[in-house]
Amino acid sequence: MNKVSILQEKQAAALLGGGAARIESQHKKGKLTARERIQLLLDEGSFEEIGMLVAHRCKDFGMEQETYLGDGVVTGYGTVNGRLVYVFSQDFTVFGGSLSETHAEKICKLMDLAVQNGAPLIGLNDSGGARIQEGVVSLGGYADIFHRNVKASGVIPQLSAIMGPCAGGAVYSPAITDFILMVEKTSYMFVTGPNVVKTVTHEEVNSEELGGATTHASKSGVTHFAMANEVECIEYVKKLLSYMPQNCEEEAPTWEYELGNEVREQLNSLIPESANQPYDMKEVIEQVVDAESFLEVHKQYAENIIVGFARIAGRSIGVVANQPACLAGVLDIEASKKAARFVRFCDAFNIPLLVLVDVPGFLPGTDQEWHGIITNGAKLLYALSEATVPKITVITRKAYGGAYDVMNSKHIGADLNFAWPNAEIAVMGAKGAAEIIFKKEISEAADKEAKWKEKEQEYLEKFANPYGAAARGFIDEVILPSQTRLKLIKAFAMLENKQVATPKRKHGNIPL
Ligand code: HXC
Repeated sequence: MNKVSILQEKQAAALLGGGAARIESQHKKGKLTARERIQLLLDEGSFEEIGMLVAHRCKDFGMEQETYLGDGVVTGYGTVNGRLVYVFSQDFTVFGGSLSETHAEKICKLMDLAVQNGAPLIGLNDSGGARIQEGVVSLGGYADIFHRNVKASGVIPQLSAIMGPCAGGAVYSPAITDFILMVEKTSYMFVTGPNVVKTVTHEEVNSEELGGATTHASKSGVTHFAMANEVECIEYVKKLLSYMPQNCEEEAPTWEYELGNEVREQLNSLIPESANQPYDMKEVIEQVVDAESFLEVHKQYAENIIVGFARIAGRSIGVVANQPACLAGVLDIEASKKAARFVRFCDAFNIPLLVLVDVPGFLPGTDQEWHGIITNGAKLLYALSEATVPKITVITRKAYGGAYDVMNSKHIGADLNFAWPNAEIAVMGAKGAAEIIFKKEISEAADKEAKWKEKEQEYLEKFANPYGAAARGFIDEVILPSQTRLKLIKAFAMLENKQVATPKRKHGNIPL
């Protein structure tokens, strides 16, 4: 056989992974192969593979008789919409995509390249975990990856698509990355599987319920996206990338935008008459950002707060918004954690923040206190305070108590704070406030209920408006809702070159 044929034979073998039968079995499960996924993700013809001929070194349990070129992971680089990305795609047809010493080395090499060259890393995960035949070297391989995930955090965007099993300690690499996307029905993530759960806790639960996409999208918040199928999942990876810069020293790509009529009359009638009536904050978002540019993150989790990417006049922004249509938009543990993590991503990658506020306060109760609303609420306060990207706030209705401070108030570093005319900025709701400060008067009145109402009204008139805050400069401008988009376009453009010098320190100590 001549030398060219030898090479071609090896390449053909590598392309087949674990062989035709296993590829068929993968397809039967409704899953694509590692290479098909890469093809869907990258621009046509842009993929360059690295390490195609790598083979494992294990000599135990008869493993020397069974080697597959590439060793269960396809690694390389290419472009998504013309922008460089690094990608690894685990091949379930080779020892179940399990991670060997060499499989880990391939991923680590790619991560080093991604960091050194400042481009996003995308992991397409489909793996039975540590290569059982290799023992501790496989565990070491995982830790080598975890360590690199941490070092790359905040330097380049890291995205994890989970497209099959992801169990045991293997879950911690995706967990450290910036965004996780899971596929319904064919992917799952858990630290210990249903069998161990049954032995230890006697709970009967299947893989889907324990760690499927829906579970992690709605209950645990581990995944940011639950996608209907693999094609949609990969489309979302591409979409997400379009809002992000290549690395922490660059800006996100901008889209061409020509100013037109930016007045949105509908917003003037969006807020209900009664302050206790809900409305959908997503309607506000849709009206103020560029048409169809809003990409919601963590849609099914902690729905009392909304986070996501959008564009304003073609520029990427991150949106954080209370959702009065869910639990009146109250801040609780989950909402605080969800928003804090999103804010930190945006700040790390130079994505300006828009914060829309309609918040009655923090959720009271033993459940919240015992699970640490203090520490967890502080996460959002810390994240927004720490962020040095342009930060703009719009108070659409309520901004009460500590939540007023936390939700990107002027005091914690917001650059511009707008309020709509019906904004209520106060220490607490008028009813509760009247009960406390006019306790004596109310208890002594012949008609207590009427007195309470009168005092409530007095408090409402004094504080249930934005003008006290505006008089102090805590609100920069009270604006008509219909003018919001226009104001934001101008304000974000004005803040485009914002620079903040931060004192030297190793890192802050966010209350984890
Ligand atoms: C070596 C493995 C493997 C593994 C699967 N295979 N997992 N080989 N190491 N971890 C092989 C199988 O032998 C089989 O080989 C092929 O992959 C497909 O596996 P099946 O079991 O036939 O597939 P399926 O029925 O779809 O089940 C998939 C699975 C199951 C649920 C992932 O294979 C499984 O439970 N595997 C073990 C998972 C596990 O316990 N891993 C270690 C977790 S601990 P053939 O030759 O038949 O194709 C861990 C620690 C990480 O990961 C710590 C990091 C800090």
